[in-house]
This record gives sequence, C-alpha cells and structure tokens, in this order.
Amino acid sequence: MNDTTGRGGGPVDPPPLAHIFNSTHADFDAVTPLVWGPTGEAMAARAGILPGQRVLDVCSGTGASALAAARLVGPAGSVTAVDFAGDLLARAHAKASAAELHNVEFRVADVTDLRADDIGHFDVLTCGYGVFFLPEMDAAVRNLIDLLLPGGRLSLAVWHDDALYDFAGAYFARVARVTGEPTPPGPRDPVDDPHPITRIDTVEKITAWLESVGAVDTRATVLRLRIPRTDTFGWSMVLGSGLRGALDGLSPEAIAEVRRGFLQDLADADMTEVNCDTLIATGRRPER
Ligand SMILES: C[S@@+](CC[C@H](N)C(=O)[O-])C[C@H]1O[C@@H](n2cnc3c(N)ncnc32)[C@H](O)[C@@H]1O
Repeated sequence: MNDTTGRGGGPVDPPPLAHIFNSTHADFDAVTPLVWGPTGEAMAARAGILPGQRVLDVCSGTGASALAAARLVGPAGSVTAVDFAGDLLARAHAKASAAELHNVEFRVADVTDLRADDIGHFDVLTCGYGVFFLPEMDAAVRNLIDLLLPGGRLSLAVWHDDALYDFAGAYFARVARVTGEPTPPGPRDPVDDPHPITRIDTVEKITAWLESVGAVDTRATVLRLRIPRTDTFGWSMVLGSGLRGALDGLSPEAIAEVRRGFLQDLADADMTEVNCDTLIATGRRPER
C-alpha cells in the first residue's frame, strides 16, 4: 500500500510520486476552492510579495500559490513555478493563460535538482504542502533557501497537527480491508523512521526547524480550514491528493468498494467536518 499524503508514517514504497500526482490531474481542482486555493492565497499574502519581485514557487501543483504570487508581483515581476507532475503544471499553465497572467514560467522538474547556476536567485520562495514530500527534507529546503537572495523571504504551508489525521486513518484502514493488506503505520505510531511531517506540524516545531535549516525571523500561524464532511468533498480529497496513490493498481470494483466503505465509515464516525487546518510558516534568508 502506498502512503503519499504526508499523513501516514513509516517506510513506504510508492510508485513514483510524480506518476501519482499526474493521476490526480482531473480531480485536483475539485479541492482547490476549499483547500489549495485559500492556502495559496494566504501563503502568498504572508510572504509579503511586492510588485516587481521574482518569486520561486515549488511543488506548484495546479498553481494555487503560483498564480496568487503572479497577481501580487504584477507585470513587472515574475514567478517561476516548478513541479515534476507535468499534468498538474499544464493545468496551472492553462489557468494562468485564462487569467491573462503572462508573468509565470512553468518548469517540469524535480525541485531537489534546482540550482542557482541554472535559475538564478529569487526575492521570495513559496511552497504549499510540498516540503514533506522531499527526500532528505532538511537538505532539500536548505538548497531552496540558497536560491533566495540575501534577506529574501520564504512562505511554506504544511498540514497542522491533527489535520487529515482521522480522515486519512479511516481511508487507509478501508483500503487495507478491501485489499487484505496490512494498514500502514499512522504518523504517530512508533516506527524507526517517522514521517517528516511529524517534525514540522506545530507552530513551535516548524519555526524551530526552519531556523535549523538556515532561515531567520521565522513565524507561523494556523489557517483554520474545516470543510463540511460531504461524500463529494471526501472523495474529491482522495482523488485530488496524494491519497489517491493507495488506489494505484486496484480494479474499478475494488475502488468502488473503498469509496463506499470509506464514506460510510466517516458518516458512522459522525465526522461533521474534515480538519484541513494548515500551518503557514514564514522566514527569511539571512542578509549575510
Ligand atoms: C499536495 S500537492 C500541492 C500542490 C500545490 N502546492 C497546492 O497547494 O495546490 C504536492 C505537489 O508537490 C509536488 N512534488 C512533490 N515532490 C516534488 C519534487 N521532488 N519535485 C517537484 N514537485 C514535487 C507534487 O507533484 C504535487 O504537485
């Protein structure tokens, strides 16, 4: 079974993450108005982006924060949006064109491969729900901070504390029941190698972690996102996120069984809302 949500725990053996995220492309934007969109706007706003600046948006998906940043920098500024899921980035590109935002460059690339020699330095770095996917998260984020100009600002979004905890737990339990495979360990189960998200899921943890990878003036706040639990939202959140990876290779009948059982389990648990609370953390690259 594959856990690519940043909400599971323990060792996993997913198909390549880019393949999973590409497979979400038709469903990803069903979640945008309720989750990815508000976070993208908040993250760009808290980055303090000014007209004319150069922004690097990594793990861009369908462009929630990249497009918000493009509006803030205006025609004199620019945004470079990077993701290795080309199908998601193509949707971001189409949305930018439809909105007549011509100041965004889209790059299909692994963000851990970005180097200043190639793309230069930026005034602002934004990354929504992405850093916990990066292998060797600390080294990867140090490298991203190096792509900022001295004094440049960064703004990150990650799941806060209990966000998606019960939701993802019910989902993986249901997938396990349908497939007959063991349920993967949750993020708080004792495992040798806890999921990186457990290191950055509170205000205190993420600000301390950002300082440890080289940022200064770090701050974080919680964006409260409680989405009414409906079957439509529940299943869109599965199909339009990395949770979808656990369905990879299942037959249409098995997927239908997961859907029916999972949505029933949420209803039986009297879950009235889905906790999608999000931490928005900001900081700066030191001046020298
Ligand atoms: C949960 S989505 C978030 C997308 C977008 N930031 C948003 O908030 O709507 C995570 C994104 O990170 C991308 N991603 C994860 N690891 C990556 C890597 N190493 N290089 C490039 N993109 C990556 C995935 O392809 C996916 O689009």
